[in-house]
Amino acid sequence: MIPVHTSVMPDEVMEYLVPSRPDALIIDGTLGEGGHTLRFLEAYPHCRVVGIDADVVMGERAGARLSEWQERFELKTGWTDEVLDNWGGNSPDLILMDLGISTYHYDGSGRGFSFKSDEPLDMRLDSDGESDAADLVNTLREEDLADLIFTFGEERFSRRIARRIVAERKKAPINNASILAGIVAGAVPPQARHGRIHAATRTFQALRIAVNGDLDRLSRLLAIAPDLLAPGGRLGIISFHSLEDRLVKRAFRALDIRFGGTFNVLTRKPLVPLESECRSNPPSRSAKFRVIEKPAEGYMK
Ligand SMILES: C[S@@+](CC[C@H](N)C(=O)[O-])C[C@H]1O[C@@H](n2cnc3c(N)ncnc32)[C@H](O)[C@@H]1O
Repeated sequence: MIPVHTSVMPDEVMEYLVPSRPDALIIDGTLGEGGHTLRFLEAYPHCRVVGIDADVVMGERAGARLSEWQERFELKTGWTDEVLDNWGGNSPDLILMDLGISTYHYDGSGRGFSFKSDEPLDMRLDSDGESDAADLVNTLREEDLADLIFTFGEERFSRRIARRIVAERKKAPINNASILAGIVAGAVPPQARHGRIHAATRTFQALRIAVNGDLDRLSRLLAIAPDLLAPGGRLGIISFHSLEDRLVKRAFRALDIRFGGTFNVLTRKPLVPLESECRSNPPSRSAKFRVIEKPAEGYMK
């Protein structure tokens, strides 16, 4: 398997997610093609990594890439908040979440994540999921569609876009990503059609977040993962848009020893990629990385 995804902030992840013992248990909660996992396996010859991904296809891709590491690598397919909620194993020393989707999803999955693609409007990571993006676009009431695009996409033209979608779907169901992209582009004012990002970027982001329940899942994960960590363990989260980063920031603040909690927040401000990484791997541009550390055993507040 030739990986198509370039791991984001790999040096910062290795600098901040350092296990406190050699035979550490590491959970990569967003395995993807296993780029970060591979680094852990190489750096710590006695660690074990459990890689979790909601997407069966990603599990297969990572499994093929990591086949020679079978003794120390275990794959779990599922949503990470659910897997951790039912965790029966040892307490992990490190947990990494690198949120969102991978380059493969845009370029190779055939599930309509990219507005450039002539593909079915699906966007589900988990193919058993109840509704796909086409269901939302074709069935939601206009007000609900506008709210969804406004809230999850932070799209200021959400009402115009929702109105246009509803008008178009009366003519024929909207089942294709590039057709939806064209409808959205036609709904925004001409000056917004030629901006730095494609006019449909925010609408596509909103649909993906809604289809996969990203924010609810992140909230649940934030409620579960810190407790699960072994003493001295660390949780690191890379997020890619402000809604996610806000959730992480608030949850970490509530755990922060300076505000009445017991955890050390190791990143007072989120770490961001160096300019050189932004240039060589443009999708990293919007990344924000935050890390907390659980107190070691014997610690008294
Ligand atoms: C940005 S990619 C991870 C890339 C990986 N760190 C690497 O370096 O190759 C995110 C992956 O996590 C999966 N994913 C996203 N949110 C998830 C969640 N809440 N539970 C399980 N998997 C999730 C996606 O299917 C995708 O494969």
